[in-house]
Amino acid sequence: MKTGQTVTLKPDADGLRLAAKVLSGGGLVAFPTETVYGLGADARNDTAVADIFDAKGRPSFNPLIVHVKDLEAAQKYCVFDQEALKLAKAFWPGALTLVLPLRADSGISKLVTAGLETLGVRVPAGQAVQGLLAEFDGPLAGPSANPSGKISPTTAEHVLGGLFGKIDAVIDAGHTSVGVESTIIGCLGRATALRAGGVPFEEIERVLGYHLGAEVIGKAPIAPGQLESHYAPKGHVRLNVTQPSPDEELLGFGDVEGAVFNLSPTGDLREAAANLFDCLHRFDDRGTRKIAVSPIPNEGLGRAINDRLRRAAAPRGN
Ligand code: TXA
Ligand code: MG
Repeated sequence: MKTGQTVTLKPDADGLRLAAKVLSGGGLVAFPTETVYGLGADARNDTAVADIFDAKGRPSFNPLIVHVKDLEAAQKYCVFDQEALKLAKAFWPGALTLVLPLRADSGISKLVTAGLETLGVRVPAGQAVQGLLAEFDGPLAGPSANPSGKISPTTAEHVLGGLFGKIDAVIDAGHTSVGVESTIIGCLGRATALRAGGVPFEEIERVLGYHLGAEVIGKAPIAPGQLESHYAPKGHVRLNVTQPSPDEELLGFGDVEGAVFNLSPTGDLREAAANLFDCLHRFDDRGTRKIAVSPIPNEGLGRAINDRLRRAAAPRGN
């Protein structure tokens, strides 16, 4: 976690250039969009993305939205079918997030997608954020810039009230215009409503020419907790293990002997968070049947790591 000052930047050429530089260096910059202020980090940088969770104090790794400058940029990371293209052309830039299949070569951190094979992506509107994306020229991960469980920020003051000292900078462009988060639509086959937001469902239905399945609203698998099977490795997982049995492979944390992989040999929770999904995937690649996990302190990012690992260790359904 960052400690110390948070710089307030103007949304002018100098401010945006500096903000883009901080992002490229792995820093955190809160930025205005038309909906709410987002907490931005380079979506390709595992450690920077882990810092978002740390700064927000998020108890679990929800997948994050990625902001890009235009449709062409979005197509580098996701696959658009005809319906997704229609929606993007109708509403971008704007308060619409599309959940789309992730490209295999996207380069997006697994912490952004929480290990899913889909990505929430949007092209935000507003001079400041468009200027920032033009300068940064990359995918910008950005949940709302509030501590976990708190109200989304619509001014730079709100951002500073919750995150001062925990982020490098905030770009102050006054009040956001929309004030509620983006609407989220899943485009994985027939379009489904995942979250009500800045673009009314009716407008989306008008463009699609059919009704979004009402029964899906509120029940869609938005939270990782509802998608346990996506997070669980194939092997059985046992937590808080100091003595692995001979048939188990150890996922270590800190200074432990005999680990097949180690989340962080120095016991750094930030590094561990950045490595978590990658390590679980690698056990799958090895065909590991039984994974034992070293104890991980239940504080800061450790709570989020333990939350994910508990889900991984939970009894499996189908
Ligand atoms: O307006 C907004 O969307 C703002 C601004 C900053 O862009 N961002 C925002 O992000 O509200 P956040 O993280 O607070 O909410 C994003 C929501 C979460 O509920 C997350 O679970 C969902 O989007 N989400 C992101 N990626 C997803 C995916 N691949 N599948 C399903 N849900 C996803
Ligand atoms: Mg939020």
